[in-house]
Amino acid sequence: MAVFPAFFGLVLVSLVTGQTVEITPREAVRRVGDNLTVLCKVSYPIDSCRMTVGSTPYRLIPSQQDEEVVYSGQGLQFGECGAHIKHIKEEWNGNISCMLPPPSGSIEVTGIMRLVVAKPPANPQLISPPQSNFKEGDIFMAQCIVPNGRPVAKITWFLDDDQFLTGVHQPIITSEPGIDLETISQNITKELSADDNGKRLVCRAEHEALDSPREAARQLVVYYPPKRTEAGQITIFGLKIGSEGRLNVTVRANPPPEAQWTVGELVLAAPQKNEDSSITALEPVHLGGGYYNVTLVLTAVAKEDVDRTYYLRVTNDLGREEFALRLSTMDEPAGVQLSPGAIAGIVVAILLLITLVSLTVFAKATDRWCFADQESRDQGKSSGESSDTESAVGRQKSRLSQLSARVRAVLPKGRDRVQATGNTEVEPENVADEKKSVVYAELALGDQNAEKPLPPSTEYAEIVYTDQPPQIKENKE
Ligand SMILES: *[C@@H]1O[C@H](CO)[C@@H](O)[C@H](O)[C@H]1NC(C)=O
Ligand SMILES: *[C@@H]1O[C@H](CO)[C@@H](O)[C@H](O)[C@H]1NC(C)=O
Ligand SMILES: *[C@@H]1O[C@H](CO)[C@@H](O)[C@H](O)[C@H]1NC(C)=O
Ligand SMILES: *[C@@H]1O[C@H](CO)[C@@H](O)[C@H](O)[C@H]1NC(C)=O
Ligand SMILES: *[C@@H]1O[C@H](CO)[C@@H](O)[C@H](O)[C@H]1NC(C)=O
Repeated sequence: MAVFPAFFGLVLVSLVTGQTVEITPREAVRRVGDNLTVLCKVSYPIDSCRMTVGSTPYRLIPSQQDEEVVYSGQGLQFGECGAHIKHIKEEWNGNISCMLPPPSGSIEVTGIMRLVVAKPPANPQLISPPQSNFKEGDIFMAQCIVPNGRPVAKITWFLDDDQFLTGVHQPIITSEPGIDLETISQNITKELSADDNGKRLVCRAEHEALDSPREAARQLVVYYPPKRTEAGQITIFGLKIGSEGRLNVTVRANPPPEAQWTVGELVLAAPQKNEDSSITALEPVHLGGGYYNVTLVLTAVAKEDVDRTYYLRVTNDLGREEFALRLSTMDEPAGVQLSPGAIAGIVVAILLLITLVSLTVFAKATDRWCFADQESRDQGKSSGESSDTESAVGRQKSRLSQLSARVRAVLPKGRDRVQATGNTEVEPENVADEKKSVVYAELALGDQNAEKPLPPSTEYAEIVYTDQPPQIKENKE
């Protein structure tokens, strides 16, 4: 069964090698006025070389080099029949063929190549919805047409300087009957986002006959309601009591947002000041890309400002967004940001620990549990720690100061250490660090949950540590 196709293939190969001329190039694109060299080659010497360019036949003779179309090649004896065309003419668009004598018989062998004489297309046309602005999420459709090019033009799409690739449909190439000019059209679809606002959608047409690409473009205007740039309650850190405080929020919106601040009973629509000019709502400042800096200025931050919540409402034609702000005199925590859940967990854990430790110490001090004297003396170090921790915990001043005398009596080593705290060098460093961190953590938490009163721990610490290490005092502020 395979014999017939094999035989047929053999016949084809012999036809190609025996009867057909090797022609290079097989296809060329040139502009009017360019030159072109076409070479036909056979494996035997020839005595003549003819070419048809356009509708004109040329007899090419190696010694004659003055015409528009002249012989090119190493010589007829090498089987080479080439043509050098000095200046391409528009009407030569089409086939160029060479005719060479056959190795035997009387039928000439021919080679055919295609010459495309490039013709620039008309200007690109960008067809898109006539409306001047769009909403975020709208599906934007556009069509670009580059008519009547030869060869067909190439379309690329850009958003500003970035090439646009997703949402680009297959191009459609058409030509009117009778003329060999081709028109290309291509559609795009794109879901518009806030980032697209202000961008230029560009359809770029490139073509062999054009020195530089031609473009058709339109501006995209995308509107969207105010959006927050960070989730949840906003805390402004690093404010100083008595100094100016700036509460700034970054909001994204288009058209530009209007800001309204609410501080207690006071409502300020930016730009606006309150009566005594102690609070100023500044006009939102455009930072670029639709981002606005919305700022409230407190001329002097008072202690009670820290306990307040500031409300900001940002509005534009498409919607609104609300913010709640708190102030903090602490520096912004570096690194990990704890979620509210994590903070609550840590608070509960610390409270549990404190309760446990104080219960233990209380029980020991009042001899409610039967601790062997020997054991408590041997536990010098750990008792010292408990005493320290307890000192950061205490419940009632008077009762605990009574107790502390007993604690010292029961735990002599702990007492020594308590008395030595003023002299930090004597203390083992790890214990000192631990103590500081406990006090610091509590203060931090007290700040985050300003509604809850601070545990009276620090006051008790003052009683026990008559000479407080200076670090603890700094942390308290
Ligand atoms: C022929 O055209 C090529 C470019 O296609 C150019 O580099 C070359 O100089 C031209 N030769 C002549 C003889 O004009
Ligand atoms: C050009 O040559 C191709 C074969 O290479 C042929 O199909 C086509 O009809 C020719 N065109 C003209 C106008 O002769
Ligand atoms: C391209 O868009 C035009 C109008 O915008 C429409 O008429 C044409 O059918 C679309 N073509 C394709 C291939 O989607
Ligand atoms: C306030 O402005 C500062 C400084 O430009 C900036 O780092 C900070 O992120 C802004 N705060 C908010 C909540 O946008
Ligand atoms: C926003 O404005 C405030 C007050 O003018 C300024 O302190 C802050 O640095 C600004 N923030 C940004 C991100 O530009």
